[in-house]
Amino acid sequence: MASEMAETDREGIDGVRMTWNSWPRTKVESSKCVIPIAASISPIRSHPDILTLPYAPLRCKTCSAILNPFARVDFAAHIWICPFCFQRNHFPHHYSAISETNVPAELYHQYTTIQYSLTPIEDHKVGPTQMGVGQGGANSMRPPVFVFVLDTCMIDEELGYAKLALQQAIGLLPENALVGFVTFGTQVQVHELGFGDMSKVYVFRGSKEMGKDQVLDQLGLGRRSAGGVYGKGGQAGGFDSGIHRFLLPASECEYTFTSLLEELGTDLWPVPPGNRSLRCTGVALSVASGLLGACLPGTGARIIALVGGPCTEGPGSIVSKDLSEPVRSHKDLDKDAAPYFRKAVMFYEELAKQLVSQGHVLDLFASALDQVGVAEMKVVIERTGGLVVLSESFGHSVFKDSFRRVFEDGEQSLGLCFNGTLEINCSKDIKIQGILGPCTSLEKKGPAVAGTVIGQGNTTAWKLCGLDKTTCLTVFFDISSSEKPDPSGNINPQLYIQFLTSYQSPDCQQKLRVTTITKRWTDGAIGSEDLVQGFDQETAAVVIARLTSHKMEMEEGFDATRWLDRNLIRLCSKFGDYRKDDPTSFTLNPLFSLFPQFMFNLRRSQFVQVFNNSPDETAYFRMLLNRENIPNSLVMIQPSLISYSFNALPEAVLLDVASIGADRILLLDSYFSIVIFHGMTIAQWRNMGYQNQAEHQAFAQLLQAPHNDSKLIIGERFPVPRLVVCDQHGSQARFLLAKLNPSATYNNASEMAAGMDVIFTDDVNLQVFIEHLQRLAVQSS
Ligand SMILES: *[C@@H]1O[C@H](CO)[C@@H](O)[C@H](O)[C@H]1NC(C)=O
Ligand SMILES: *[C@@H]1O[C@H](CO)[C@@H](O)[C@H](O)[C@H]1NC(C)=O
Ligand SMILES: *[C@@H]1O[C@H](CO)[C@@H](O)[C@H](O)[C@H]1NC(C)=O
Ligand SMILES: *[C@@H]1O[C@H](CO)[C@@H](O)[C@H](O)[C@H]1NC(C)=O
Ligand SMILES: *[C@@H]1O[C@H](CO)[C@@H](O)[C@H](O)[C@H]1NC(C)=O
Ligand SMILES: *[C@@H]1O[C@H](CO)[C@@H](O)[C@H](O)[C@H]1NC(C)=O
Ligand SMILES: [Zn+2]
Repeated sequence: MASEMAETDREGIDGVRMTWNSWPRTKVESSKCVIPIAASISPIRSHPDILTLPYAPLRCKTCSAILNPFARVDFAAHIWICPFCFQRNHFPHHYSAISETNVPAELYHQYTTIQYSLTPIEDHKVGPTQMGVGQGGANSMRPPVFVFVLDTCMIDEELGYAKLALQQAIGLLPENALVGFVTFGTQVQVHELGFGDMSKVYVFRGSKEMGKDQVLDQLGLGRRSAGGVYGKGGQAGGFDSGIHRFLLPASECEYTFTSLLEELGTDLWPVPPGNRSLRCTGVALSVASGLLGACLPGTGARIIALVGGPCTEGPGSIVSKDLSEPVRSHKDLDKDAAPYFRKAVMFYEELAKQLVSQGHVLDLFASALDQVGVAEMKVVIERTGGLVVLSESFGHSVFKDSFRRVFEDGEQSLGLCFNGTLEINCSKDIKIQGILGPCTSLEKKGPAVAGTVIGQGNTTAWKLCGLDKTTCLTVFFDISSSEKPDPSGNINPQLYIQFLTSYQSPDCQQKLRVTTITKRWTDGAIGSEDLVQGFDQETAAVVIARLTSHKMEMEEGFDATRWLDRNLIRLCSKFGDYRKDDPTSFTLNPLFSLFPQFMFNLRRSQFVQVFNNSPDETAYFRMLLNRENIPNSLVMIQPSLISYSFNALPEAVLLDVASIGADRILLLDSYFSIVIFHGMTIAQWRNMGYQNQAEHQAFAQLLQAPHNDSKLIIGERFPVPRLVVCDQHGSQARFLLAKLNPSATYNNASEMAAGMDVIFTDDVNLQVFIEHLQRLAVQSS
């Protein structure tokens, strides 16, 4: 059966992983499971076996679920029974040829995920249309739109790097992609790319919030042309003068764009010593949003912002102009001593609403040594499904290589899609609490909406303005029934969930991805074999990390470490094997046994120990934790460590200081950074140049191997991670040491004498943690 096949490849054709793979029947039983029932879904993950059908799907006439392999089919009567609501549906006329030996693909048991191409076939009156600008019938898709918004309050060198990146980008865009250009410093400049003889710029004051209508009037795109209705954006009013002036096909405006970049200098507004630059990021973004809203509502479009410092002017400001006043820290936020924070977040919440209603995306590329306001802008990036990259400089490979990948084609392409909508249907008794991840609730009420909300809830449908093949979301479920079903009754042992994702693919096709999954209900008690066998500890760890981050943001005074500890102890006492009050008797089923270590590392991670980072960094880490798949998110929580040495294949080693060795090279992958760490002896040999001598070929290979492996990791990842190459006892070694379990502490003099690396940390080591855990788990309450 399909569900068994999926167990071998963990993400599978469906791209769905669940904390529990058999579900308790009642609300009470589900709360005893400690770990919530949740699914991590990658709605449009690419997989070689996904078939695309060139016709529209059949829907159940009662619940509108789509025909799927779990439907019971009566071929003689030409009827299918919907597994969600048990409605009997007649096959329409064009299915009349079906039989046991002639089954349509959407009923094949292996196609639990299938795709429909919904781009309408043009009728004969229209004839084949090209996707070119200004053509196409009412239903054809517009090419994607890119509005670049560039900060000019930077030193020359940084602006140079940013300009170079933009110049490369426009060369990589498809010829018919539309391009717009906005720059800002103390004021906002909207550049007219379609001018005749003279370059024309529209200037907006940066100090004041401006209504959308004011923006449009000033650009000469007044109400009349602003009448495009969302969802019908391809029609009326779309290609008016606004488009021809401000948004031009890449092939037509490349020359103009390049000359504009060449002339562009840093912001000229005088900045007295001791002051910050006046930077009006908020107004610049709302002008860009207004421009897109007027010209192309409902069309796939992204605003790509390159920002080099904090907003200090107008709405969205995060700090004062006085340089002696630092940008807010976690401590300030905690003490409610960040006077700009709430107001800026509220401004960006409004911008998020506007962009989502237009179906447009905000991508943020922030490069600066200090913070720029990612924490405040998080809401608009996440609600619109935008990309975010945080780096120290526009000259750093983290920015340069990531930025280039946004525009690259072929193998390396991110496969950016637009205008996505996710809908979820479930069997009776299953409710949806909400979603954590890059989406916005569409507030579509239905029988499957749960009373309690987690993240984007109160709905069975979500908007994903921007999405790609790596986009991941976490759906939280609840069980509504309070009683076990009458065992004598005719009860269905299976539950069903259907995920429907419609979106515009990179080749401008309208697609619908349908994933239908089934799981078993279990009537067994807690600790029953059924339940235990269905536990996915990796998914559980990631879901708990996402939920913890969410609670830390939303619940005042939330004590993450205590909450995690309490849940872990509860889980171990419910699912462990032990004699009461005898810690030495404690064992955990292998399906649970890695989980305590995941929690140990989560407690020490950047997601819980936020005070080691800035609020911008924390916001950045959390956005990526929420949108990455399970393996990548797990590496953020518990980095992987590989050891390279002579006479042995590279092997995974414990994330522990004891894994450091003088004659080893270690490769640490913590997702955001990759560290290559040379043991002392290796570093000495390298410094003496042994790798260049013919008789030390093996040493040269040993030195090279971790670099090759890191290149593979870096090539697949977006954002591109930072690569740190360092030696034991070197200053950069802290990038490795900070992630290792302090099995040896500086209190142990004999270990220090033995020359072991020592971590200066107050937290307990893994062994002590596990011992405590076992003691508490076996306590009779
Ligand atoms: C955007 O998606 C919605 C919902 O799937 C669809 O109705 C609409 O036609 C799409 N808009 C465009 C311009 O394709
Ligand atoms: C410089 O900063 C001070 C203190 O915040 C402020 O009062 C002043 O207006 C700033 N000057 C300029 C030119 O922005
Ligand atoms: C399935 O989804 C549709 C559209 O969101 C909704 O109208 C219907 O009630 C749902 N049915 C079930 C059984 O959840
Ligand atoms: C959910 O909807 C209810 C009423 O329909 C409303 O009171 C509540 O504020 C909403 N919650 C969220 C988180 O949107
Ligand atoms: C590293 O990669 C290079 C180029 O792909 C290859 O020639 C070399 O053999 C690799 N070395 C090791 C040790 O894997
Ligand atoms: C100190 O480290 C040594 C060597 O690893 C070990 O044998 C000893 O038990 C440790 N002492 C304490 C107090 O942890
Ligand atoms: Zn139905």
